Amino acid sequence: MLARLSRPALPRSVLRARPFSSSHSRRSDALFVHRDTPYNNPKIAFEFTPENLKRAQEIISHYPPQYKKAAVIPLLDLGQRQNKGWTSISVMNYVANLLEMPPMRVYEVATFYTMFNREPIGEHFVQVCTTTPCMLRGSTEILNTVCEHLGGIKPGQTTKDGKFTVIEVECQGACSNAPMFVVGDDFYEDLTPDSTKKILDAFKKGEKPKPGPQSGRKTSENSAGLTALTSKPYGPGEFCLPEFQ
Ligand code: FES
Repeated sequence: MLARLSRPALPRSVLRARPFSSSHSRRSDALFVHRDTPYNNPKIAFEFTPENLKRAQEIISHYPPQYKKAAVIPLLDLGQRQNKGWTSISVMNYVANLLEMPPMRVYEVATFYTMFNREPIGEHFVQVCTTTPCMLRGSTEILNTVCEHLGGIKPGQTTKDGKFTVIEVECQGACSNAPMFVVGDDFYEDLTPDSTKKILDAFKKGEKPKPGPQSGRKTSENSAGLTALTSKPYGPGEFCLPEFQ
């Protein structure tokens, strides 16, 4: 009652619930609901090539027979690689059948892990990391450079010639070489707008640019050179008492 009496008279608009964030919410690139389309429906046949089937059986053999469904992720990955980089409903159904799992269990896995692409992708799949360490090192500029250099496409889109798909991704675990992007299975690190364009141009020409740091440094070594452990390491027993030498 007291609180009621002491509450200041505020206009209704001020009392309205405020959102936690003032920025516009960003939606995922992918739709997690399957809709049959001419290029993605259960009537399209899919099965592993003899080579991949052999590999799948080898993967399944790593698990006890009653737990062979544990192989669902590596098998979906194998299926995605065979299916030009994306996991269609037929790939999921085939894997479910092979592992004797209800298809829904496989759909749950494929829709949970973002590394499974549920829509076709371009020949080169460019995943630009925009998580904080990369963002602080200029990933926004890298993402803009990629999109502009590929004809003005937006993250989540594929170029008209079907050569490139670009998406934004979360940390890829290469923060010490930020900013970076992944193309296929390779990391391109220490990027600048110039090196980004060069890498994309090389892919356009059908070449395979050298992955790794583009700054010239080796892996993630200090770019300022050696600053610790600069003296010669001493040998075994060098400073021990004579009886221990
Ligand atoms: S934040 Fe980009 S690799 Fe970690």
